[in-house]
Amino acid sequence: MPADLRTKLGHVDLPNPILTASGCAGAGRELSRFTDVAKLGAVVTKSIMLAPRAGRPTPRMAETPSGMLNSIGLQGPGIDAFLQRDLPWLLTRGARAVVSIAGSSAGEYAELARRLSDAPGVTAIEVNISCPNVEDRGTVFACDPAAAASVIEEVRANTRYDIPVFAKLSPDVTDIVAIARSCVAAGADGLSLINTLLGMAIDTATMRPVLAGLTGGLSGPAIRPIAVRCIWQVKQALPDVPIIGMGGVRTGRDAFELILAGAAMVSVGTVIFHDPGACDRILRELGDELARSGLERLTDAIGLAQQSADAVRLGARPRMGSRD
Ligand code: SIN
Repeated sequence: MPADLRTKLGHVDLPNPILTASGCAGAGRELSRFTDVAKLGAVVTKSIMLAPRAGRPTPRMAETPSGMLNSIGLQGPGIDAFLQRDLPWLLTRGARAVVSIAGSSAGEYAELARRLSDAPGVTAIEVNISCPNVEDRGTVFACDPAAAASVIEEVRANTRYDIPVFAKLSPDVTDIVAIARSCVAAGADGLSLINTLLGMAIDTATMRPVLAGLTGGLSGPAIRPIAVRCIWQVKQALPDVPIIGMGGVRTGRDAFELILAGAAMVSVGTVIFHDPGACDRILRELGDELARSGLERLTDAIGLAQQSADAVRLGARPRMGSRD
């Protein structure tokens, strides 16, 4: 019997845990040639800001071993165009829309939250406080517990009560649990882990940085172990807080790994650039992984590796599925 893949995004029921990662599928339109967006757990949109934004100069993408650097700089059409064009399109397609927002002050985030709360059909808000591609590192709010909390407090206060608010955190911190606690205390209903890591590449032929913006966010399989570690640490500290896990997921097995660490949902990102149908495949493969492991429900797998580790610590044999 196929495994039951239903999960919960805060209090919202999702038919399955596979989401697009913000920034890797626009607002879903381009992806819809390859994937039925209504069949995904949700589409997480590219982070939207109040005003239209051109982003950083090119080149702004670079391949790295097992990964990719991006230095996009939050390019986007601005909230007015998003509300007029992109959100209605997602709704007519029957997709669940998790809208990612970004700003340069708590007030900007608050305004975005207000605008989205007045619009129909927003499933959840993902608050991107961790974009590495900003000129002022002081606006990477997710690097400081108080700054992160100040944004989340404003967003929660200005978001309709029935729309869950997820804070997207950066792995580029000493103690991600401290940031997670601070966001939850400020009203976040859940956490998205992890955004890209700040990286850089130099072209040895030209002897110059590859990216015009010099630095970029590293994504792809190279960062998956960091995502697993962050999810694990946060799940252990805040076991009741739902987590959207992301970071280098290419296969159903990769998604399963993040779920075993503690994620209730998994966003799929970088792989979409070379395999635009990846979300469907990963969903199928995840179902197979659960069945092979003898798990009937996805919810039984969330954080299961933590229980196994506890059992080992206590000297008991871990209760594992029936993988061969
Ligand atoms: C970008 O647009 O620069 C990427 C956004 C992000 O990594 O949060």
